[in-house]
Parts: sequence; structure tokens; C-alpha cells
Amino acid sequence: MDGLRFDGKVAIVTGGAGGIGAATARMLAARGASVAIADIATKRAEALARAIPGALAVPLDLAEEASIEAMVARVVAHFGRLDVLHNNAALLGPEVAQADGDIEHMATALWDRTYAVNVRGTMIACRAALPHLRASRGAIVNTVSNLALQGHVIQAAYSSSKAALIQLTRAIAASHGSSGVRCNAVAPGMTMTPALRDAFPPALRAMVEAETLRPQLGEAEDIAEAVCFLACEAARNITGQVLVSDGGCASHVPGIAGFRAFFAGEPA
Ligand SMILES: NC(=O)c1ccc[n+]([C@@H]2O[C@H](COP(=O)([O-])OP(=O)(O)OC[C@H]3O[C@@H](n4cnc5c(N)ncnc54)[C@H](O)[C@@H]3O)[C@@H](O)[C@H]2O)c1
Repeated sequence: MDGLRFDGKVAIVTGGAGGIGAATARMLAARGASVAIADIATKRAEALARAIPGALAVPLDLAEEASIEAMVARVVAHFGRLDVLHNNAALLGPEVAQADGDIEHMATALWDRTYAVNVRGTMIACRAALPHLRASRGAIVNTVSNLALQGHVIQAAYSSSKAALIQLTRAIAASHGSSGVRCNAVAPGMTMTPALRDAFPPALRAMVEAETLRPQLGEAEDIAEAVCFLACEAARNITGQVLVSDGGCASHVPGIAGFRAFFAGEPA
């Protein structure tokens, strides 16, 4: 059990006021960490920090280099060290998803914004954190997506930005492993966060459920479990990897829902 705990350790969760980030912040704290909840939604970050003993809310705009560097500096000044960086924030929301389809109809500005937050912002956060993670022999966990692993008709900018983060994960793991810093990625499939539960069209949700091998879609806590595992001492021999947590959605040949329907009711 000790290798799964974070006693005496300090963790930053970017986008920590949102669904998966908030679940991860709560779980890290429950397992002994002091957590910094870094988010552009400062009011929500402060409310969550009040609910977690010893937690710190830190304003962060991942699109702004100075904001990212100030966030890391503030956390280290407050807690005196940094052991875990969970890069979880991303450019999200219904309007962004709506505008992010096939590239032929995509605004260049949306592409640039997506890469500025998801890729450039995450790179700067890693760069700012690395000296402190070297000192603590700490770990980075980047949240990507199962959309980074397979082609789709939706979210070309988002999915390719997450694929770039997978390669960044490997590059950091390769360059900093000998200094004791690990870097891994978690790839969630569709996860029923409060925001998604309200916004996702039920017909599309049913399609994803039909392709999922478990009886239900994952929850924010399911992804938090994967993040906590990769960040903890028990995962000390794991680096440069992508852990897919999607209920098996990306693990099978396409069309499994159609096969299920075809065989339903057929004699064995
Ligand atoms: N929910 C899913 O189905 C799903 C699937 C695959 C991957 N993911 C990934 O999981 C991560 C968390 O997603 P979620 O579903 O919990 O989203 P969410 O919208 O509930 O939370 C995201 C948080 O990031 C913050 N944020 C947005 N832009 C920011 C910025 N510029 N600077 C700082 N903070 C910013 C938001 O305020 C919010 O609190 C994201 O990286 C997302 O791409 C989610």
C-alpha cells in the first residue's frame, strides 16, 4: 500500500477545478499529497481547495507562458517542493468541439488556440516543473485521449494535439529518466464528467456505449485512479508509456456494436 501513497509529496493538477482534474486532486489528497489546484476557473478552484485540507488554488491560463511559470513558482514557494505534475487542462467545451471537425472547414485560429493550450502550454508546464521534479525524483502524467490513437471524423485539432502530447511524453521520459524523472500519459475514452453528462447528445453517447466493453462508461474517478497509479512510487519502473483507460473501447476491431446486434437472438 505504501507505494500507492503520496505522504509528504506535493502535486499540481492543471485544470484541477474540472471533472477529471477535480477527481484526481481529491484522490491525490486522500492518499496523502498536498495538492495545488491550478485552473483558469479561479472561483471553482478556490471552492474545491476549501474542501480539500491543505490544498492550494492557483490561477493558471495555460495559453500564457508567464502564467504557467508563475503557477509552478507559486506552488514551490508555498509547499517547498514539487513531486507530481498532472497536465490535465485542455481547450474544451461545446463551442470548441463544434468548431473542431474536419480540417477543410476549420479556422486556423482554432487550430492555433488548441495547440497553444494543449501542446505549447503543457510543454511550458513540464519545462518549468522539471528542475523541481529532478530534485524530488518526481513524475509527470499527461492526460491525452483515446482520440489520439485512432482516426475519427471529429476533433482533428484536439486529437492531433493530444497525439503530439504522447510524443512529448516519450521525449521527456527519454531525456529525464536518468535523472529519476518519469513521464507517462493517460488516455481516457469518453468519461462521464459532470460537464459531459449534461452536454453530450444521448444518441452519440449510446454509440460510444455500444463500442465499450464494460457495462458502462468510465467516470472521472476511473481516470484519477490511472493518474494516481502512474504518479506513485509503485509505478517506478514505468515511463514513456500511454495507459489507455476507456473501458476497452479502443482495444477491439471496428464494428463490434454491429456484430453484437447481428448475433443477438441467434441460436448458439
Ligand atoms: N471527459 C472525457 O470524456 C475525456 C476524454 C478524453 C480525454 N479527456 C481529457 O481529460 C482532461 C480533463 O477533461 P474533463 O473532461 O475533466 O474536462 P473539464 O472541462 O471538466 O475540465 C477541464 C478543466 O480545465 C480548465 N481549463 C480549460 N482551459 C484552461 C486554461 N487555458 N488554463 C487553465 N485551465 C484551463 C477548465 O476550467 C476546467 O476546469 C482534458 O485534458 C481532456 O482532453 C477527457
